[in-house]
Amino acid sequence: MESNFFLGQDSFHFLANWLKLQKYSQVVVLVDRNTKQFCYPLIKDFLPENHFLIEIPAGELHKNLQTCHQIWAKLTTWAIDRKALLVNLGGGVLCDIGGFCAATYKRGIDFVHIPTTLLAQVDACFGGKLGIDFQGFKNQIGVFALPKHVLVNPTFLHTLPKRELYAGFAEVIKHSLIADAEHFQFLVTLERQFSTHLHEIVYHSIKIKNQIVEQDFKEQHLRKTLNFGHTVGHAIESFLLQFPERAILHGEAIVVGMLCEAWLAMKRNLLPKTDFEQIWAYLTHIYPQKIVFSPEEVSEIAKLCLQDKKNTHRQILLATLEQIGKAVFDVPVTLGEIEQALYFYLKNL
Ligand SMILES: NC(=O)c1ccc[n+]([C@@H]2O[C@H](COP(=O)([O-])OP(=O)(O)OC[C@H]3O[C@@H](n4cnc5c(N)ncnc54)[C@H](O)[C@@H]3O)[C@@H](O)[C@H]2O)c1
Repeated sequence: MESNFFLGQDSFHFLANWLKLQKYSQVVVLVDRNTKQFCYPLIKDFLPENHFLIEIPAGELHKNLQTCHQIWAKLTTWAIDRKALLVNLGGGVLCDIGGFCAATYKRGIDFVHIPTTLLAQVDACFGGKLGIDFQGFKNQIGVFALPKHVLVNPTFLHTLPKRELYAGFAEVIKHSLIADAEHFQFLVTLERQFSTHLHEIVYHSIKIKNQIVEQDFKEQHLRKTLNFGHTVGHAIESFLLQFPERAILHGEAIVVGMLCEAWLAMKRNLLPKTDFEQIWAYLTHIYPQKIVFSPEEVSEIAKLCLQDKKNTHRQILLATLEQIGKAVFDVPVTLGEIEQALYFYLKNL
């Protein structure tokens, strides 16, 4: 099950032509404050004149039931029917929540993703995972459903803040670390100049993600490897979300997660020390800023890993690396080991 995707400057024309052929009863476009300002003007003329527009608040703090309520309420007020299309124009947060609302509204209407962040273009919009955060836990409520198309246009990235671009690049690094050693070494040679190779990098990352998802849509085995960095990463992200002034970006949390989980793999003698050292040196070079939490907070962060969706029988199961370019999954780890990894990060960055 692979998402149909179109990558390139022509994606707006593709959308316009495709919409003419489909004859949807209504077209609704979902934006947030930033994508309304920076992205919507670029595609407005390619949409049917009588489309509807819904604006939701931007950011992870709003990836919740309250925002779903706003979206479903608008769809209901406008009597949007089952032959309608929802166009999700935004980053991973907007596409996760928009896809979820579309997949559940009247038991499901069609939707397309138009990702506007690097993170959404290489990762979040592919693979059909949709959902929202609930009671402080990431992506706790959700469904699997595929968009009709994912339309990737690099033009959107011109207005993306640099911090967001770097956060998205974390998922690019993750893809190469779990599945393509040669590409990882290529990324290393780029140093911080990766933005000059964005088209190539985006295409390559989408290919890796789709190849994995195609073999295991419902995440029974291989797809778990895509969660490298996410057990510890989601725990840190969820923990810091409790304090809005300390909240960090998803990709930034995943960097810490990859550092900790690679360290755990090395401690378990799964990952050669030389591989670990290269990963550590590279990630800390690209992301020199430290994500702040105190030693007193370590056990609380580690406990959040108990809610990870890959766990079974209250056992934390990690996806990690056995070498650069090769991932393993279902590696059982204890809370104590997670704590050690977080302490190692705090001491050594
Ligand atoms: N479904 C999946 O498989 C999957 C995979 C990875 C990540 N995710 C989810 O993705 C989310 C993170 O996505 P994200 O990093 O894209 O964050 P995001 O959606 O919050 O976007 C980041 C910020 O950039 C703004 N923005 C978006 N496009 C812009 C543009 N072109 N110009 C200027 N500003 C723009 C947004 O308004 C927002 O403020 C997390 O919730 C994460 O859990 C989902």
